[in-house]
Amino acid sequence: MTKGIILSGGWGTRLRPLTCTIPKTLIPVVNKPVIERQILLLKSVGVKEIVLAVSVMADDIKRYFKDGEDLGVKIHYTDEKQPMGTAGALKLAEYYLHDDRFFMLNGDEIINFDFHEMLDLHQKSEALGTIASMNVEDPSPYGVLIVDEDSNKILKFQEKEEYDPPEGKPVPMPVNVGVYLLEPEIFSYIESNRKISIEKEIFPHVANKQKLYNYSINGIWRDVGKPYDLLEGNILLMNSLIKESKDKKENLIAESVQFEGNNYIIPPVTIGEHVILRYGCKIGPNAVIGDNVYIEKNAEIKEAVIFKESFIGERSKIEKAIVSNNCRIQEGVVLRGNEEALVILASFVEVLKDVQLITPDNRHITYCHHEIVRSNLK
Ligand code: GDD
Ligand code: MG
Repeated sequence: MTKGIILSGGWGTRLRPLTCTIPKTLIPVVNKPVIERQILLLKSVGVKEIVLAVSVMADDIKRYFKDGEDLGVKIHYTDEKQPMGTAGALKLAEYYLHDDRFFMLNGDEIINFDFHEMLDLHQKSEALGTIASMNVEDPSPYGVLIVDEDSNKILKFQEKEEYDPPEGKPVPMPVNVGVYLLEPEIFSYIESNRKISIEKEIFPHVANKQKLYNYSINGIWRDVGKPYDLLEGNILLMNSLIKESKDKKENLIAESVQFEGNNYIIPPVTIGEHVILRYGCKIGPNAVIGDNVYIEKNAEIKEAVIFKESFIGERSKIEKAIVSNNCRIQEGVVLRGNEEALVILASFVEVLKDVQLITPDNRHITYCHHEIVRSNLK
């Protein structure tokens, strides 16, 4: 029976201050933690047993998923005392994964594509490993695959630091999206008790032996590395989920949402469970609103992600922003980012009445958890 392992150990430094209170892999995308979305994808292809390779903020992740029963899967946790690198973390899960093939996922990827097709391809090719890829214009931030087009074999795997584009200019290449199908034989390539990167030390070696195959995905992928990726990834996944919804919906609005009076909803929009919208609000396009958010009269939210349990005051305007859980935005507040520079509020931030936070240039405006914002920033 195919199993799964999700790497869930990074610090998520580029997502600070959001990741000061929420581990990177528990950050919500379309209102569910990144790795919960991945677990649901694994479940859809019949995986029933999943290892979470946790290190940083491990207790938060264990508290959220427990033994997996709520999601209908069996979840095991590895005991990684300090970050052991991507292969080192995998090696610690050998006990659970030694008897059959398994999916291995980077826990910080927003993905939605057909895992069945990948599994079929892997089984037919009899590869030791299959790596899911996507063609991108600028491959420099990723692991690059040099693929033989006829056989689909990966001839070379070069992690970002090792890849040199021809003539120093980026050219479109297939890159590693952080989803693999591996046979237990992979464990024989990884030493125990050493910090090892699967991308830098193991895949290049296995590729040399011509035992890795490429699977070019037909779906969406975004690494949640940086705040703008997180905003875009939410929008990308929302559109993808809307597209595959059976009843041709334009939005993802929970049944428990309470609309008081008229509101203007511009698709696509996601509104989570038990959200209350007072009248006259303008929501969307591209707004993702978490569970139990309370939105006061005449508020406007577009191109923004609001995590659960926040309060959005009357006439406030939010655009190009990420608002974490339990924030309190008082009336008349303006949060407005600029292109890829966002306004980012970590958990429990309070923004006082009529304060305006408007990104003046290409730098984010950020506030750490529990801060009280009293004055304008423009
Ligand atoms: N348990 C554990 N222990 N997990 C780890 C460790 C560790 O020591 N180091 C990293 N991880 C986890 C991270 O939490 C993340 O989910 C995943 O492994 C990948 O690590 P990143 O630090 O996010 O790597 P990256 O984004 O720079 O590059 C990786 O992802 C790209 C796609 O987004 C590589 O796999 C690239 O080849 C790939 O293109
Ligand atoms: Mg990453």
